Amino acid sequence: MASQQLTDQLVKHIDEALGMEQNVLRMLDGMIETTEDEEIRNELRHHKLETEQHAERLEKRLAAHDASPSTVREATGIMGGLMKGVVDMVRQEKAGRNARDGYATEHLEIASYQLLERVAQKAGDEETAEVARKNRKDEEAIAKKIEANWDRFAELSLQEAGVPA
Ligand SMILES: [Fe+2]
Repeated sequence: MASQQLTDQLVKHIDEALGMEQNVLRMLDGMIETTEDEEIRNELRHHKLETEQHAERLEKRLAAHDASPSTVREATGIMGGLMKGVVDMVRQEKAGRNARDGYATEHLEIASYQLLERVAQKAGDEETAEVARKNRKDEEAIAKKIEANWDRFAELSLQEAGVPA
């Protein structure tokens, strides 16, 4: 049996991961709205579905610990700053910036899931560790997709700024 303190920390990590995914959902909505490229839009829509799944899995793990999502959720620290930056940037409708901030956000998620996985393992909660792994795999996949398209994002970004090719 994990100590109460450890379990409390685990629940906090799950709850924060859920908050993160909810922020990502908002961010993706903004990106979908501001992306003209059909293929990229489809990728974003696909990742939105995945993100909804991520959030759902986390909600289930919270419920398994008899906890419910924080009602007042304030993204704090690094994440808050980044997320706010991301949302502000999205408003400027720039493909390159969407890609850059999307890439940074995916890595923030990957880091969070690495931590969550380990805290869950220490607390003996293998199911939450598995959720962390599964979610992380999707984030890694989308980060790789962004990575494979830097040339294109740079071009789109210049196009949007009206720079002739
Ligand atoms: Fe996610």
